[in-house]
Amino acid sequence: MTKIRVAVLFGGRSSEHSVSCVSASGVLRALDPQKYDITAIGISPSGRWIKMDSNLDFVMASGQLPQVPEVGESLALSPDPEVLRHQLADIDVVFPVLHGPWGEDGTIQGLLELAAVPYVGSGVLASAAGMDKITMKILLAHAGLEVGAFVGITDHQWRNDQAACIDAVNDLGYPVFVKPARAGSSRGITKVKKQGDLIAAIEQARTHDPRIIIEAGVEQARELECGVLSGDQGRLRASCVAEIVVGGQHEFYDFDAKYLEDSAQLVVPANLDIDIERELQELAIRAFDALGCEGLARIDFFLDANRTLIINEANTMPGFTPISMYPRMWQGSGIEYGELIDTLISDALRRGTGLR
Ligand SMILES: Nc1ncnc2c1ncn2[C@@H]1O[C@H](COP(=O)(O)OP(=O)(O)O)[C@@H](O)[C@H]1O
Ligand SMILES: [Mg+2]
Repeated sequence: MTKIRVAVLFGGRSSEHSVSCVSASGVLRALDPQKYDITAIGISPSGRWIKMDSNLDFVMASGQLPQVPEVGESLALSPDPEVLRHQLADIDVVFPVLHGPWGEDGTIQGLLELAAVPYVGSGVLASAAGMDKITMKILLAHAGLEVGAFVGITDHQWRNDQAACIDAVNDLGYPVFVKPARAGSSRGITKVKKQGDLIAAIEQARTHDPRIIIEAGVEQARELECGVLSGDQGRLRASCVAEIVVGGQHEFYDFDAKYLEDSAQLVVPANLDIDIERELQELAIRAFDALGCEGLARIDFFLDANRTLIINEANTMPGFTPISMYPRMWQGSGIEYGELIDTLISDALRRGTGLR
């Protein structure tokens, strides 16, 4: 049997660099060496592509947040599609285990399209749309899905008419959540309870992204998530539903609650009425399809006090360590971590690149 030559791409230039390294070390450990020839490519915080040893010792090494080193055997990739194809000629499929901008947002996907190398997950458009919370919510709302009230503020709008921006936010009512449009891991997000704190929160979000979104806060909501997977021949499946229960001292599911403290509890499967669970799974598949996602996505919801399911966001490359929510939800639905990775890789190979 000839082995599938798979390259795992990780790290990257976004603020989710370290999270990506941890996800990738899980994927690399689970890839069966009998089935795959494995190449590990780390992208350093400055964007250099470094060939790395596939055991990724550095991830566990220091007890600190892991980082791809800036030094090492680097890959100089050419933007010329012919040259690029040649440079990546020994790779059948790429698993871009990258979170955030310059990885989960269509940029890497565009590079791989140019090189005609198949890759796991969504293509250029769905990756970009999923990354940008304003575009994502417009597309979902257009498909008739509930996303809650929000205001998008572009750099142009903020610079030209702050008063109009603030008026639009005030119409949402407080609390609001102020977010960079294109970030992740809760970076740059502030819950604002009164107008007096709004401008500082906006300026804070704008240090991450000049494009921001402000959403009406969903109060007393349960946070529920569902995995969507493109299985055999592209048939979409929804996983069991899971719940995040955030511990006392955190106002919401912020970065510390996600990664640094043991304060958020992941409940898999969530304790839910069967009708809500079914409805949520159906909405997750509709959201996946409305955004044009491929391969995998995790769709995150709020269940509000009126039992309305509101879509918070879609993540086209969700956290992927063996204990991350996406793999755990599939485990809860009978698909183990290794099998999940095999499914994603064969789906990528089946789909190929180009218009499809
Ligand atoms: N509109 C909202 N109402 C209530 N809580 C929210 C709202 N938006 C975000 N949150 C809280 O903030 C967290 C992070 O927001 P999210 O939009 O998921 O950002 P990220 O893409 O960084 O994960 C959510 O998991 C939730 O706890
Ligand atoms: Mg989130």
